[in-house]
Amino acid sequence: MVTFPKRTHWCGELRKEHVGSEVVLNGWVHTVRKVGKISFVLVRDRTGVVQVVVSSRSPYYEVAETLTPEAVVAVRGVVRARPPSQVNPELPTGEIEVELRELVILNRAKPIPIPIFDAELMKTTSETLRLKYRYLDLRRPEMQRNLFFRAELVRVLRNSLDSRGFIEVETPYLARSTPEGARDFLVPSRLYPGKFYALTQSPQLFKQLLMIAGFERYYQFARCFRDEDPRADRQPEFTQLDIEMSFVTREDVMSLVEDLMREAFSKTLKKELPDPLPRLTYSEALKKYGIDKPDIRFENFIEDGDENLRTALNAESGKAVRLLRFELRGRGPEAVKEFIEGVLSHEGGVKHYYVVRSENTLLSNAEGVEAELVRLLDLGVGEAAVISVGNYVKASEALGALRNSLGRYLELARRDEYAMLWVIDFPLFELNEEGVMVSMHHPFTAPKPEDISKLDTDPLNVTALSYDLVLNGYEVGGGSIRINNRGLQEKILRMLGLTAEEMYDRYGFLLEALEYGAPPHGGIAIGLDRLVAVMLGHESIREVIAFPKNKEMMDPMTGAPGKPPEEHLREIKWLKIIS
Ligand code: AMO
Repeated sequence: MVTFPKRTHWCGELRKEHVGSEVVLNGWVHTVRKVGKISFVLVRDRTGVVQVVVSSRSPYYEVAETLTPEAVVAVRGVVRARPPSQVNPELPTGEIEVELRELVILNRAKPIPIPIFDAELMKTTSETLRLKYRYLDLRRPEMQRNLFFRAELVRVLRNSLDSRGFIEVETPYLARSTPEGARDFLVPSRLYPGKFYALTQSPQLFKQLLMIAGFERYYQFARCFRDEDPRADRQPEFTQLDIEMSFVTREDVMSLVEDLMREAFSKTLKKELPDPLPRLTYSEALKKYGIDKPDIRFENFIEDGDENLRTALNAESGKAVRLLRFELRGRGPEAVKEFIEGVLSHEGGVKHYYVVRSENTLLSNAEGVEAELVRLLDLGVGEAAVISVGNYVKASEALGALRNSLGRYLELARRDEYAMLWVIDFPLFELNEEGVMVSMHHPFTAPKPEDISKLDTDPLNVTALSYDLVLNGYEVGGGSIRINNRGLQEKILRMLGLTAEEMYDRYGFLLEALEYGAPPHGGIAIGLDRLVAVMLGHESIREVIAFPKNKEMMDPMTGAPGKPPEEHLREIKWLKIIS
């Protein structure tokens, strides 16, 4: 082990007031530049860079000449003011430099495979390469800022909850299925071959049990595991700030979360969120914005097409005709058309028609009626419209998702402008693609008391005591008041198609617990990765996770998922099961 002088100062903190002091820096060589007989070495640590000067008279001159970027060094030197002509106003430490007295090279570095300090080149560097060398990618100041910001946000949230009497409790990751609408990741049990643990999709059931256990105010920064296809705002493992409270109404939970969010935004970003946050009901959100996670920073509301439009498009009666119009804002018509086609979802058999009008072209897929559409919509030059025909919810959702994406594509809102709101009054149930009734949130969500009588007669019109927290078009949180009564919980599970046997097998422990004095309770989970990403203006949550999986659910660095050794497979009797 090399002994080396230990840091007395951080590189980024040195200023004029340090002139004359002897300092020791530990860090990485950022760049090496030779001017005549002097070497200028920028040394970097996590706080910034500072220039170290090695003159040809220095006994370390020759060693310094062998330095290459990213080598690890310990440097002793004396801080001196730079001559006025050499002051670098772009660098916080640009008024001073460190004259080298001692240099210890702690490690060498090969030429690095990604241009981490060239912001322009990094834009064209593939994400796979970035993730393969994530430890280098994370040296970039932007990535360091992201992770420092994330840690600061967690600190603020944790302090805020602690000061309000919340207790942090860890709950198991190895459990039985906690359903949140995704597939489970399964972990084979060695001691019980053929049996599996499920990695928890959320701590939902455990936090409810903690309420029954009498903790009253719980939180946890919990890792959640969901085997679903990753997207820019989704990872197979992600972090929730999970919260649960007893003896509360929906208003109490929402008001706590608002206070938390206001404090977090104010302390970390110096931004003030409105008090109270705006609210939309699910049906208002769908009507106006087409989606339950609207970006309300810009208007472009979704409209209903009139009779003339219905006739022009031959829309069958019973089908909804919904419409979104927007200005091209200088984007080329071809590019806008491609954007629209790339984003529009055809889920539920919805048909979409677009018209994009520019100075000298009219791009449309509404063959034969494009001119009629332009006339009916009174579409000006530099304007576009998309009309969706089909099931009301599906047509609205397709346009709503397009609208949110257009907001980013057309820069309809500033990145550092934040619009947080609640969406409330979701239906308790919805029909899935196969027409089967499923929970809109999860099966433990309470219906509004006044709607309980509709459970038997009109279940799809039962409203839930749930709420989603939305920020700039992203769902950053969701929660509800829970069912705390065994009879009602059994009824809901039955309505979701569970047989008595399945119900007791999977949720017997919860049903039983509900009979031993379960207080009224409710809570929420905030998606931490998403919250951080949106706060920092990133579209992908991978930018704010140290070691994420890529779009193919793999980790190009470690090679996960990998093949375990046969011996291990034999131990868990896996070889026997699959062969
Ligand atoms: P829900 O499933 O809505 O609720 O999750 C809460 C929040 O977690 C975030 N989120 C994700 N973030 C990244 N990758 C994912 N795959 C992912 N899935 C969800 C979202 C979401 O709003 N137990 C309930 C909460 C409750 O009722 O208290 C739950 O898990 O931001």
